[in-house]
Amino acid sequence: MNTSSPTAPRSIQIVPSVLPADFARLGEECAALEAAGVDRIQWDVMDGVFVPNLTFGPDVIAACRPHASVMFEAHLMVADPDPMLDAYVGAGCEMLIIHAESITHLHRTLSRVAELGAQAAVAINPSTPIDAVAHVLDLVDMVLVMTVNPGFGGQAYIATMEPKIAALQQLISVNGSAGASGAGIDIEVDGGISAETIGGAAAAGANVLVSGSALYRYEEGLAHGVADLRCRAEAAFRAE
Ligand code: DX5
Repeated sequence: MNTSSPTAPRSIQIVPSVLPADFARLGEECAALEAAGVDRIQWDVMDGVFVPNLTFGPDVIAACRPHASVMFEAHLMVADPDPMLDAYVGAGCEMLIIHAESITHLHRTLSRVAELGAQAAVAINPSTPIDAVAHVLDLVDMVLVMTVNPGFGGQAYIATMEPKIAALQQLISVNGSAGASGAGIDIEVDGGISAETIGGAAAAGANVLVSGSALYRYEEGLAHGVADLRCRAEAAFRAE
């Protein structure tokens, strides 16, 4: 049993997915997201095998790295992440998110991410139980609970994931792990996060909230959207 060190309370983080961004101007789009007040940027890396879509290679991310100073996290929705870990860290991603479903030796892969000097996170799809991450909590700084089936933006939020988020928060609390960095373990959600759904996710225990299409839909602009989503999440967030 890990003995948890007292950690600071988890803060709300608003994280855009770049899927809805203008792919012809990704560097400028990253700068605009940072100016809008986002806490980090998520790159939805898709290989067309693990999910039926194809997106960003490390060179695209590397080209955008100079345009923003916020943390880049690579959400690796790929069939075999091991061969590409170095490339995405080298492209400037400070965090790599590994899907538990995508790798036979998850413990080894998460350990390798840390050896590369990046923060490690583990993601679970809607049908994957939280037990899949029970024995790697000491290797990660975040667990991502998917609230859509991955592959595309603009999908409907799966509200039945909320009890799963709450159960994960309980699992982390009982496990007592303070995570790989010793600062506690964040809970991230990704998929269908909007003004209407973010409160339920935060109330269940998620403090890192990824939004793509809903954030870009704010007629008042990205900064207003980030502020609105943050306000709604903070009002609802239930810490451990
Ligand atoms: C997995 C992708 C999407 C995206 C967010 O399909 O990772 O979840 O980031 O998309 P929205 O916010 O449009 O559902």
